[in-house]
Amino acid sequence: MTEAKPVTQTAARPVPTLPDAQEVTEVQHYTDRLFRFRTKRPQSLRFRSGEFVMIGLMGDNGKPLLRAYSIASPSWDDELEFYSIKVPEGPLTSKLQHIAPGDQIILRPKPVGTLVHDALLPGKRLWLFATGTGFAPFASIIRDPETYERFEEVIVTHTCRDVAELTYSREMIEGLKEDDLMRELLGDGIDRLRYYPTTTREESPKMGRITTLIESGELFRDLGVPPLDPAADRGMVCGSLAFNLDIKALLEGAGLREGANSEPGEFVIEKAFVG
Ligand SMILES: Cc1cc2nc3c(=O)[nH]c(=O)nc-3n(C[C@H](O)[C@H](O)[C@H](O)COP(=O)(O)OP(=O)(O)OC[C@H]3O[C@@H](n4cnc5c(N)ncnc54)[C@H](O)[C@@H]3O)c2cc1C
Ligand SMILES: NC(=O)c1ccc[n+]([C@@H]2O[C@H](COP(=O)([O-])OP(=O)(O)OC[C@H]3O[C@@H](n4cnc5c(N)ncnc54)[C@H](OP(=O)(O)O)[C@@H]3O)[C@@H](O)[C@H]2O)c1
Repeated sequence: MTEAKPVTQTAARPVPTLPDAQEVTEVQHYTDRLFRFRTKRPQSLRFRSGEFVMIGLMGDNGKPLLRAYSIASPSWDDELEFYSIKVPEGPLTSKLQHIAPGDQIILRPKPVGTLVHDALLPGKRLWLFATGTGFAPFASIIRDPETYERFEEVIVTHTCRDVAELTYSREMIEGLKEDDLMRELLGDGIDRLRYYPTTTREESPKMGRITTLIESGELFRDLGVPPLDPAADRGMVCGSLAFNLDIKALLEGAGLREGANSEPGEFVIEKAFVG
């Protein structure tokens, strides 16, 4: 009797001899559009929480197919975590969504980005404004002890179309509040990390675009904090281009100035995707 040939998913398995190959250790799917995965971390890779790198797979033409991805894990973590969209016809993510533990991805070890503490002036309260996969860099920031050394209060707003798209941020923040190391770090101040999830297209306890909730003042009333003030508030923003522009106008309207690595300011912005 002849043995059946094993079925292999060649599309998601790049050649293992790539110079920048990293092994996938864990994959978790949330919806048909969102998943997270973890990889081994090159020993030499140093990055600042909030930065992004280029990752990808080998394309059908034998050349690396790379895209920018925020590192969702904090800089102290032994592994790397990524939080990803699945674009049905997307050149990379139509394949990347099929990776499994043991597979390899390409990771170019040159982290860059503006969503870093170095680009912000000292302040009292850090606002992290995200839509969709724009939460990814903040998954890194909120797991970094430096964040709580720098700020008295950290408020994460995450807006998605549907409730299921909030699962990654909700589970992470709930988990952090139960985490022994975080409790040791924050002590009685565990409530210094606050979460404000909203949806726009499915019923949930808090509905609406965050921009609308800022404009109406509902966000500040709900949280019991004063309106944005350049003397106290700092912001990091990550979402679509339209979202970033709208939030930028609101922050500037409140008197906050955009910062950069070379010249720290009161808020920083990065696109969660192009297009
Ligand atoms: C600085 C930076 C950081 C990024 N970090 C992440 C990240 O952490 N996680 C992540 O999933 N993506 C991230 N992206 C987007 C990522 O680079 C790719 O665009 C994405 O992986 C899709 O690749 P693709 O080849 O399948 O499709 P592409 O050809 O790259 O995109 C096709 C279309 O899909 C839409 N799209 C792409 N990415 C997203 C997204 N994240 N959310 C919603 N719609 C999207 C856009 O309309 C785009 O025109 C980042 C982009 C930038 C510029
Ligand atoms: N998420 C899905 O179920 C889905 C399904 C199929 C295709 N897509 C496509 O995938 C792409 C990205 O979808 P996405 O849902 O990840 O990202 P998105 O379209 O940027 O929306 C994410 C969240 O941000 C809000 N938002 C968008 N623009 C904003 C602005 N200018 N100010 C304030 N809030 C804003 C959206 O509210 P609103 O709902 O009010 O826009 C939504 O709650 C889009 O091109 C979309 O057509 C998405």
